[in-house]
Amino acid sequence: MMEIFRHLESEVRSYSRSFPVLFEKAKDAFLFDKAGNRYIDFFAGAGTLNYGHNNGYMKEKLIAYLQNDGLVHGLDMATVAKSNLLNKLDDIILKPRVMDFKVQFTGPTGTNAVEAALKLARMVKKRSNVISFTNGYHGLTMGSMSVTANAYYRDEAFINRSDVSFMPYDGYLGKDLNTAAYMRRFLEDNSSGVDIPAAVILETVQGEGGIRVASDEWLREIESICRDFDILLIVDDIQVGNGRTGHFFSFEQSGIKPDIVTLSKSFGGYGLPLSIVLFRRDLDIWKPGQHTGTFRGNNLAFVSAAVALDYWKDDCFSKEIFRKGEILAGRLNAISAKYPQLNAEVRGRGFVYGLAISAAEMAREISSACFDNKLILELCGSRNNVIKFLAPLIISEEVLNEGLDILDASIGQVLQKN
Ligand SMILES: Cc1ncc(COP(=O)(O)O)c(C=O)c1O
Repeated sequence: MMEIFRHLESEVRSYSRSFPVLFEKAKDAFLFDKAGNRYIDFFAGAGTLNYGHNNGYMKEKLIAYLQNDGLVHGLDMATVAKSNLLNKLDDIILKPRVMDFKVQFTGPTGTNAVEAALKLARMVKKRSNVISFTNGYHGLTMGSMSVTANAYYRDEAFINRSDVSFMPYDGYLGKDLNTAAYMRRFLEDNSSGVDIPAAVILETVQGEGGIRVASDEWLREIESICRDFDILLIVDDIQVGNGRTGHFFSFEQSGIKPDIVTLSKSFGGYGLPLSIVLFRRDLDIWKPGQHTGTFRGNNLAFVSAAVALDYWKDDCFSKEIFRKGEILAGRLNAISAKYPQLNAEVRGRGFVYGLAISAAEMAREISSACFDNKLILELCGSRNNVIKFLAPLIISEEVLNEGLDILDASIGQVLQKN
């Protein structure tokens, strides 16, 4: 059954290798293969399914919209679905957070939003350099890839490495070294070799980079460096925005106020492709049609995205995420203590966690044993040694615990074999 993928699909395919079965259906936190096996999904489309697979509220609205011949493709024309989404985004998300921002719809996937954000920042500041951080991941088209750190993606033959300076992320030089002070020194010294950038781009929790959590103090220091040197601060919230850290935006807890924010993945709500860039109103120097893209008007995604925003009308959902996050963190700490041989470190906040295991090979074996036991988990980090927990935010406590029981048992099996 998998033969056609090996025969016809490029070697670039990836998740069909980690999870080599034919998936057919999905609901909430479950996936089902063709043979009818049920898998618990702790990966959730790499953070795209925060509201679960085939979310019932969204499905109802999407079906009704299609039944009514609602416009599906609209380039960037004004549509009822888009106006509904924009109104809700303003009322539920932006106004309560006092964000006087404009919204740019970009091409459908995350990297499209990052490209637009970088382009805008460079245009506004009339400077080409951008600062990014060690282990940062921002996508794989040329501009985004140039601010992505991992060497695996940066083939010398095609990567444009110019106009980006990398700085050490929080904790990169050990617990006691303040990397924000290090960065400040580079910027205040005009002989450091690092040009004042148009923007600093960062993730508040590095997802692909291995669930590395920046402290609130570090984020605030980076923000103040940006203010002192007239640099725009871009928060790439594509993976850990949309509620993943407990608040709608991942930067809310630290109190920083980015100038530009990128959102994608779970923003579309149903797993439908949708990306946006939010930026301060005064930064909107785009000329009409200066940055376009055929698929920047996915009206079906506007419908589900608008339903997703209903989860944020009050703080009930947020409280629920934090509550489940505590359960997850508690159980991961218990598992790490139960298996000291793993030499594991639990990292994360809200409902995004990683279990960093010193032996990368062991992490691969654990995720593959979990898959055999019908739990979907992926790895991240530069050595692929971090087991990543991105279960849908709507997962029930019961299914969360069932998945964690599978993880616990799978680790036991792997350790017994080794
Ligand atoms: C923080 C961040 N930025 C950008 C991207 C790129 O998104 P996409 O893969 O949809 O292009 C990702 C994808 O994982 C991401 O995690």
